[in-house]
Amino acid sequence: GDNVLYLAHRHDIPLEGACEASLACSTCHVYVDFDYLDLLPEPDEREEDMLDMAPSLKENSRLGCQII
Ligand code: FES
Repeated sequence: GDNVLYLAHRHDIPLEGACEASLACSTCHVYVDFDYLDLLPEPDEREEDMLDMAPSLKENSRLGCQII
């Protein structure tokens, strides 16, 4: 579907997505602008678990492939 990972690729924005949105990597890690963060549904537990493995985790970290 139209997740942020897919949109990035469609617009030539470099973002890795090693597992192709199957929540088995953290290479699609992005920082969400705080103006938009609260508009997103909370990350589910599987996303949280993967995020914990992302380098340079921040308060506004999300996995791009899980933002739809
Ligand atoms: Fe692997 Fe998003 S592409 S979790």
